[in-house]
Amino acid sequence: MPIRSFRSIPKPREIPIIGSAHRRFSGPLAFFEEIKAKFGDVVRFTLFDEQFLLVSDPALVNEMLVTKQNSFRKGKALEGARVFLGNSLLVSEGEEHTRQRRLIQPAFHRGRIAGYAKVMAEETREWVEGQEAGSEIDLAMEMNRLTLAVVAETLFGSQVDKEAHVIAESLTVIIENFNRMLLPFWQILQHIPTAGNRRLNEAQRRLDETIYHLIGERRKEGRDHGDLLSMLLAAEDAENPLKRLTDVEVRDQTMTLFIAGHETTANALAWTWHLLSQHDEVRVKMKEEIDRVLGSDQLPGLEDTAKLPYTTAVFSEAMRLFPPVWVIGRRALEDVTLGDYEVPRRTIVVASQYLIQHDERFWPQALEFRPERWLDEAAQTTRPKFAYFPFGGGGRVCIGEGFAWTEGVILLAVMARKWKFEPVPGHMVELRPTATLRPKHGLKMTVRAA
Ligand code: HEM
Repeated sequence: MPIRSFRSIPKPREIPIIGSAHRRFSGPLAFFEEIKAKFGDVVRFTLFDEQFLLVSDPALVNEMLVTKQNSFRKGKALEGARVFLGNSLLVSEGEEHTRQRRLIQPAFHRGRIAGYAKVMAEETREWVEGQEAGSEIDLAMEMNRLTLAVVAETLFGSQVDKEAHVIAESLTVIIENFNRMLLPFWQILQHIPTAGNRRLNEAQRRLDETIYHLIGERRKEGRDHGDLLSMLLAAEDAENPLKRLTDVEVRDQTMTLFIAGHETTANALAWTWHLLSQHDEVRVKMKEEIDRVLGSDQLPGLEDTAKLPYTTAVFSEAMRLFPPVWVIGRRALEDVTLGDYEVPRRTIVVASQYLIQHDERFWPQALEFRPERWLDEAAQTTRPKFAYFPFGGGGRVCIGEGFAWTEGVILLAVMARKWKFEPVPGHMVELRPTATLRPKHGLKMTVRAA
C-alpha cells in the first residue's frame, strides 16, 4: 500500500489562525463524534498552531500505544500538573519513566492487591452502614469520597487516622483546582495572590507538611505496614540497589496515586450505578450472583472477585459505555507512519475510548447496556485489540488497572447487597468530558433497600 501524505487526510472547514478551537472547547466529545461520522477513522484538525490527528481505527491505536510507542511522548497536556505532581510516574518520560515504573510496579502485584482488597471491602461496609433508606444523595460525590478514602487507606494505612482530615480537606481543594493547573500559563498564574490561589497554596503547604512528616516517621520505624507507602519507601532499583526513591520522589508519587487513583474509579462506579438504576433486571441478576457467592454477610476478598463474572461484566460494560478516561493523546517525536498515513513530527495524535467503544463495527447494538456480551467468549476473540481500552495500553498502560478492577467489583458487591439507587425525578444526567468523563450535574439518587 503506498504511503499517503498527511495533507491528503480529510479535515473539517476551519477558521484561519484558530483552526477548530472554537468547536473543540465548546464540546470536545461532540466535535470528535461529528468529525468521525463525517470523515471516518482518520481525520486531522488544527487548534491554533498545533496539528492534531484523530484516529478511530483500533489497529492505529495499537501502533500509537504499542508497536510505535517509542516515536511518541505524552506531550504537554500534563505540563502544568508537574507543579503539583513533580516529575512522577504520570508525567515523566523516556528512561526516567521506565526507572520509576520498575520501582513502583511491585506495589501493584497481586499479593499486595489482596491486602488492599480488605481495605476496599471494609471502607465500603462503613459507607453502606452510613446510608439511610429514603435519603437523597449525590452518588457521584459519594463515590468520590469513598474511593478517596480507599486510596488514602491503601497508601498510608491506619497510620493516617489522625491526619486523615487534613489530607482529605487539602486534597479536595487541590482536586477542585486541578483543571486550572492544566492551563497553559499556570506556572505564572499560580503566583497571583488571589483568594483562590492563597487557599490552594495553603492546602498544598499543609498537605506537604503532613506527608513529609509521615514519610519521616516511616523511615525511622523501618517496618513494612503492607500499604503503598511502605512499598514506595522500600522500592529498590534492581539495576542500582542503592538508588531508592528520595523523600521528594515518594511525596510526588503519593500525590500522583491519589489523583490518578480515585476520581477515575469513582466515575466508573457512578456510571455503573446510573446504568443499573435504569436496568433493574441487570441489578437483580448481579445481586443474585453476589448473594450466591458471598452469602449474606461475608466481605469479599480478592479471590472472590474471580467468582463474580457477571458483576465483572457489569463493570466492564459500564466502562465501555462511559469510559472514565475518554481520550488519550500522544505527540509524535519524529516523522512516523500510522497505517498508510504519514504523520509529521510534533503532530498530536488522539484516540477516543468513547468513540471506539461505541462503534457498531466492534460492538453490535453499541448503545445498549448488555453485560452479557462480556460472557460470550467467541465475541471476545474476534474483537480487535484496542476496540476496548479504558486503561490505555503499551508501556504507559494504567499501573492501577488491577487495583481498579478489584476495587470496582468489591465496591459493587458490598453496596449492591444492601442498597439500590433510584434516580431522583427531574434530575438531568449529562456528560462532562474534561480530563475524565463525569456526570455534569452529579448523580442525584434516592437510597432504597435492595
Ligand atoms: C477505573 C479506573 C481507572 C481508569 C479508567 C484509569 C485509566 C488510565 C489510563 C487510560 C491511563 C493511561 C493514560 C495515557 O496513556 O495517556 C492511566 C494511567 C495511570 N493510572 Fe490509571 N486508571 C484508573 C485507576 C487507577 C488507579 C486505581 C490508580 C492507582 C492507584 C491509577 C494510577 C495510574 C497511574 C500512576 C498512571 C500513569 C502510568 C504511567 O504513565 O506509567 N489509575 N490510567
